[in-house]
Amino acid sequence: MPSQPSRLSASSDPPAGGWTSADEQAGVARRLVVVTVVGSGYVGTTTAALLTALGIKTYAVDIDEAKVDKLKDGKAPFYEVGLDNLVAYGIDNNYLVPTSSYEESIPHASIVISAVGTPENADGSPDLRYVYSALESIAQNATGPLIYVQKSTVPVGTGRAIIAKYAELSDKPFSYVSAPEFLREGTAVVDSIEPDRIVVGGDDADSKHIITTIFRDISSRRAEIADIADQPIQNLPEPIAFNMSIESAELTKVTANAFLALKISFANSIAKLADSTNADVAEVMDAVGSDKRIGRAFLNAGRGYGGGCFPKDVKGLISSAKANNVAMDIMTAASNLNDSMPSYIVDRLKDELGELETKKIAILGLAFKAGTSDVRKSPGIKIANLLQQAGSKVSAYDPQAHNEALADLDEGIALLDSAQLAIKNADAIVVATEWPEFKDIDYSQTTAKLLFDAMNLLDSSMIVRNGLEYRGVGRRLKL
Ligand code: UDX
Repeated sequence: MPSQPSRLSASSDPPAGGWTSADEQAGVARRLVVVTVVGSGYVGTTTAALLTALGIKTYAVDIDEAKVDKLKDGKAPFYEVGLDNLVAYGIDNNYLVPTSSYEESIPHASIVISAVGTPENADGSPDLRYVYSALESIAQNATGPLIYVQKSTVPVGTGRAIIAKYAELSDKPFSYVSAPEFLREGTAVVDSIEPDRIVVGGDDADSKHIITTIFRDISSRRAEIADIADQPIQNLPEPIAFNMSIESAELTKVTANAFLALKISFANSIAKLADSTNADVAEVMDAVGSDKRIGRAFLNAGRGYGGGCFPKDVKGLISSAKANNVAMDIMTAASNLNDSMPSYIVDRLKDELGELETKKIAILGLAFKAGTSDVRKSPGIKIANLLQQAGSKVSAYDPQAHNEALADLDEGIALLDSAQLAIKNADAIVVATEWPEFKDIDYSQTTAKLLFDAMNLLDSSMIVRNGLEYRGVGRRLKL
């Protein structure tokens, strides 16, 4: 465990003659602030752990006792690189206080950060029940003025409704700040210490200033935090802070995710055309993405996007637009295209294998992306289940998501302990998550004659050298 940064161990008593620098004053201010983060998911746990790395006393409240117990043991409730180190640091130094009790955590707090889940309703709109139940518990237990920071992704207009609701529930002063989160799973810690931007929306300038200062502090002290987390830093420029209205901040979050999802679906549309015309989507996107106005990121074609954000946020934006009588056909098309990708992969496999029934197919990768054990809306799992339903004998492997995948995989799919075991007796292999270790598998040790790279991850010539045929999404075989 890295040693505690010296600035945090300084006494909060003023030195003779008073505090000498703004830095020292900021250090004392950090010691006086108490934050409660509601919700110990990816965003909540990462935020709480980063605050404690700044030396801010932070309660992490969650109604799920299993998550609280795991945090008390000094571990994140899920796999996220670097986060265990930060959680352990917070616990060891008594900065992080995990609890399931609002009575324990709210009365001391001057800032409450809401990071509860906003699952999807059947009609695609976000289910805000946890946002409002947390708000009620906060209001019941608040003993003084609160800055309430919304980090959960909520539809535009929610902030105003929350302000009105809080006024009904409590007579304590309440300042609402929308501070959307842009971290990615798998890179949550490094994304949070070197973000591109800080977005704060609110009516009260002082509250926005306080919240901006805290999040700026995280990136200005990134070296110390990265040391605790044992993660690299890139020395990116300081984040730009955007100060805006509540509504603009709410819309910024979903717009960013929707645009990234749009890029992926666009790349997948072009990949389908490439498949029919012998073009290569990666060559096309390398050239197209080199245009600075476009950029290469998020133009990787494959089995489509999954996870807890893109599918939900795209549908949420569509539903928000509908509620405001605005057409959002562009996002409906992106969402439909994405939904079509797993069956597109299965259809292409059928074209290659003749029939799917009785074929032994190995799926490598069940997490919705590399670097996480999260299987929410996982395209790999959809592909595995579609193949199983088509009569194939499916074996599957994921380096991190083994336990998480169990509940979502159809009965009969064999979940194996290694990639080598999963591919051993297969007729075909499908790579469905971009785990880098899939590049190092010994592909000579399989009975499979075909590898379908649904993430366009592998070097096709390496696969061909091992005696397999290679197919990708929108990839032309190099001759
Ligand atoms: C996303 C946003 O990137 C992040 O800013 C926001 O805060 C939450 O949502 P995340 O869901 O963690 O983050 O994953 P991300 O890395 O963005 O990938 C999303 C999905 O798109 C994955 O399934 C990934 O495999 C897929 N993807 C990504 C592609 O298929 N092609 C690409 O080019 C990029």
